[in-house]
Amino acid sequence: MNIILLGAPGAGKGTQAKRLEERYQMVQLSTGDMLRAAVASGSELGGRAKEIMDAGELVPDDLVIRMISVRIDEPDCAEGFLLDGFPRTTAQAGALDAMLAEKGLRLDAVIQIRVDEEALVERITGRFTCAACGAGYHDKFQRPEREGVCDNCGGTDFVRRDDDNEETVRNRMEAYRAQTAPILPHYEAQGLLLGVDGMADIDEVTEQLYKVLDG
Ligand code: AP5
Ligand code: MG
Ligand code: ZN
Repeated sequence: MNIILLGAPGAGKGTQAKRLEERYQMVQLSTGDMLRAAVASGSELGGRAKEIMDAGELVPDDLVIRMISVRIDEPDCAEGFLLDGFPRTTAQAGALDAMLAEKGLRLDAVIQIRVDEEALVERITGRFTCAACGAGYHDKFQRPEREGVCDNCGGTDFVRRDDDNEETVRNRMEAYRAQTAPILPHYEAQGLLLGVDGMADIDEVTEQLYKVLDG
């Protein structure tokens, strides 16, 4: 199965993607994670992306389109992939259509995680992840079972994203409203658009996603 998870910053795309990967044999393809890896590796691409990401703006379309096109060709995507954070502009959506047609692939569903904007600043400013395995947590909504110890791998180092501060979050939300929300009608017209209520608690959202994908 090949799907897109769409939603504003902090909607829960990454959190839910991790839960869907195993159940549906899909690989999570997060352009945000890929770009952060590029920044951490000190590559030229990372150098170009860093400032833009820290400002909460979108990196150029051609750059992310190329990144996804290369990644989708890797063997682990053959069983299925879950796009998280891509496409994010109408140009990216058009490029994805063309890319999939050329590769003989198609999308099974595009799922919008709907949220109220007021909830997002709190979600994002409270987020942290395990430095060793990348498991995601939240100061209030998703604490590790044992304080300071990752549930998944036992790691004790945690990191916060450079772009998870209130000012940048506001810019990211504006980028979502202006550049990403306009792609929803594109998928609605293709009959692919489904939705879940992202304001429910994390486990409930997962249950809704199972229902939508099993149905
Ligand atoms: P990206 O990494 O994609 O960030 P984003 O879209 O802003 O989304 P987030 O990762 O912040 O949110 P999420 O929906 O994954 O939420 P999460 O599950 O973590 O992109 C970062 C930057 O990279 C962009 O700004 C841009 O510069 C660049 N970029 C990336 N892709 C690009 C592209 N295609 N084109 C151009 N530029 C691109 O959840 C958030 C927190 O809330 C967590 O702590 C979690 O525990 C908690 N939480 C989750 N669900 C719930 C719930 N239901 N109730 C309570 N808490 C919850
Ligand atoms: Mg994410
Ligand atoms: Zn861990």
